Amino acid sequence: MTVVVDSVATRVVRWQVEHGRSHLPWQQTRDPYRVWLSEIMLQQTQVVTVLDYYARFLARFPDVRALASASLDEVLGLWSGLGYYSRARNLHRCAQRVVAEYGGLFPGTVALLADFPGIGRSTAGAIAAFCFSQRAPILDANVRRVLTRLLGFDADLSVAKNERVLWDHAESLLPVDELSVSMPRYTQGMMDLGATICVPKNPQCLICPLMGLCAAQKSGEPEKYPVKTRKLSRRSESWWLLVVLREDGAVWLETRPPKGIWAGLQCVPAFSDRDALWALASSLGSVDQTREVGVFLHVLTHRDLHLHPVVAQVPTGSRPNGDGQWLTKEQWSKTGLPAPIRKMLDALV
Ligand code: ADE
Repeated sequence: MTVVVDSVATRVVRWQVEHGRSHLPWQQTRDPYRVWLSEIMLQQTQVVTVLDYYARFLARFPDVRALASASLDEVLGLWSGLGYYSRARNLHRCAQRVVAEYGGLFPGTVALLADFPGIGRSTAGAIAAFCFSQRAPILDANVRRVLTRLLGFDADLSVAKNERVLWDHAESLLPVDELSVSMPRYTQGMMDLGATICVPKNPQCLICPLMGLCAAQKSGEPEKYPVKTRKLSRRSESWWLLVVLREDGAVWLETRPPKGIWAGLQCVPAFSDRDALWALASSLGSVDQTREVGVFLHVLTHRDLHLHPVVAQVPTGSRPNGDGQWLTKEQWSKTGLPAPIRKMLDALV
C-alpha cells in the first residue's frame, strides 16, 4: 500500500486559496511595477500602514516612467512617515535604471531583478514568482520562520553558510506543477502562513496546513525557531533639535548628510549636545526668545533617539549660518521630513 502524502507546496497552495489573503491591492495585478512597489513598501512596514501609502504613490506615479522622472524630493515627500528612507532613494534610482536600461519594462528573472538597488534575493524572488511565475524562492522573516520550523532547521542563521543552506531548502520545496498558477499562490501562501498562523509567539499549529509534516510542531517547541545568535545591539542617543522659527512662521531646514539616520531628508539643525545647540541659538541673538519644550522618544531599529526640541524665535531678516533654507508651513508639509520631525513641527508651528 502506498500512502500519498501531499507535498508541502500542494498544501500551502490549497490553504492559500481557502484561507489566505486575496484582497490586498497588489494581489489584483501582475504588473511588476505595482508588485515591486508593494514589496519594497512591505519590507519593513506592516500591511495596514502600507495600504494608504501605496494608493497615494500610485495615484501620483501610475507607472515606472512617472516615478523615474519625478524629483527625489517629491518621492521622499510621499514616503514621509514610512521610515527607512534608503528604500525611497533606492526606489527612485531603481525606477530610473529600469527606464534607462530596460525601456521601462522590469526584467523577469531573479538574477536581473536582484541587480537593482533595493531589491535583494527575496524581493526579487517575490516579483519573479508573482509576476512571471518563475520558480524562485523567497526568504523574508516570515518565511524564514515557517521553513525553519517545518524542517526543524536549528543551525544559526547569523552564519552565512547556514542561511545559504536554508535558501537551498526553500528552493527544493517549491511547486513543480502548473507554475503559472501555483508559484504566485505558493509565494503568497508562505507569506500568509508566516503572518497569520506560524507567528513568532503562540503559533496556531492546530489549524496549520503543514501540521503533521512540521518538525517543530512535532517536537512541541516551535518557538525555538529560527535560531539566530547575533542580536542587534541597541544604543541610546540624545539629539538636540533647534527649531528656528521666523516671525512669519517659516522654519529653517537643512538637508541631512547623504549617509546615516534620515540621510538626504530635510531636518531642523540637530546637535549631539545641548551646549552646541545653545551656541548656535546665541549666535542668532535670540537667547531670550529660546525655550526648551521637553523631550520625546523615537525608536529606530538600532537606536533609541531621545529628541530634545528647542524653539528659537528670530526676526525676519536673520539667518542661521551654514547651508539651509527657510520653508513655510505649506512648503515643509509637502517635503521629505522624518516622521518625528514632521510630528514635532505640526505640534509647534
Ligand atoms: N509582505 C511582503 N510581501 C507581502 C505580500 N505580497 N502580501 C502581504 N504581505 C507581504
